[in-house]
Amino acid sequence: MESHFLIYREIIPDFDDFLESLDQPHPSHLRVNRIKTTSDVVIERLGRYKARLSPLPVENGFAFEGLEKPGATLEYFLGFYHLQGLSSMLPPLILDVEEEHSVLDMCASPGSKTTQISAIMRNRGLLIANELNRRRLSILKFHIERLGATNVVVTSYQAQNFPTKYPDRTPLRFDRVLLDAPCTGEGRYRTVLRSDEAEKMRPFSEKGSQIMSRYQKQMILRGFDLLKDGGIMVYSTCTYSPYENEMVVDFLLKEREGAEVVPFKLKGLKIEQGVTTWKGMVFDPSLSNTGRVYPHRIDSWGFFMAKIRKLSLNARKPPEI
Ligand SMILES: C[S@@+](CC[C@H](N)C(=O)[O-])C[C@H]1O[C@@H](n2cnc3c(N)ncnc32)[C@H](O)[C@@H]1O
Repeated sequence: MESHFLIYREIIPDFDDFLESLDQPHPSHLRVNRIKTTSDVVIERLGRYKARLSPLPVENGFAFEGLEKPGATLEYFLGFYHLQGLSSMLPPLILDVEEEHSVLDMCASPGSKTTQISAIMRNRGLLIANELNRRRLSILKFHIERLGATNVVVTSYQAQNFPTKYPDRTPLRFDRVLLDAPCTGEGRYRTVLRSDEAEKMRPFSEKGSQIMSRYQKQMILRGFDLLKDGGIMVYSTCTYSPYENEMVVDFLLKEREGAEVVPFKLKGLKIEQGVTTWKGMVFDPSLSNTGRVYPHRIDSWGFFMAKIRKLSLNARKPPEI
């Protein structure tokens, strides 16, 4: 399967280091759940099991070693922490969420980002966690309950038709939208390399990415349409393919007036710029404001993020006559 990644030789800097990083096991990471406790308490309580925690360059994030069954401790069931990779902690951090906001998480299970957003909102405002897959709904609800996220309402619609096929028929509009889209998951190859999950992974292919891209384009349009003027959407995937990343965002920019890609910074993390050309295609120059997370730059799995703002009507340029 590793030979598939050779198609990214042109766009991934220090490509040989990247290939090497795919052979390294993913470290164990957790996020302290500030709804229930503090970092000091988690460090002390997990220390009793001889676990060693070291801070990651994001608030409440830690790498840990020496904890044999991190998903089976009393503290886990008390909701003191959530097992979540560093890459997965990043999209909520660039969403600029405020306590009283209304937020839509379009593809939410298993709920890592939902519960992180809820903690950032200090359990206030309103957060809708939507998930289509019925089997994955129960794990989403389990984590929401375990982590004490009480400002969350769970729904189960197709994200691309949320909450009805015709967006004009709903008055719902959100301050923030997260579209952590279903994707081919190339970035997780490293994570599951040595697990049983690796065998279940479908082989990656360009065709697979192109098919996925069609759904992602439908979802990103709906997410954007559900934003209030001035609202912010984050689009993210755990894949490297420009078909599923920059191309999807480029499609939104072409389809919707008032959509703009805005830059973001995450202190202490080396995030590479999104690409503006791929296989002869040329994307909007603002796609360089999107971010690519590579495992040889950040010790986690591969990821992509775009921060998109919906300009208010009076901030838009008048049409040229
Ligand atoms: C990348 S995962 C989301 C991970 C989640 N945001 C988290 O951080 O825990 C994508 C999710 O989208 C769900 N999904 C797939 N197609 C969907 C659709 N059309 N509408 C809504 N959810 C969908 C999948 O079942 C999967 O749970």
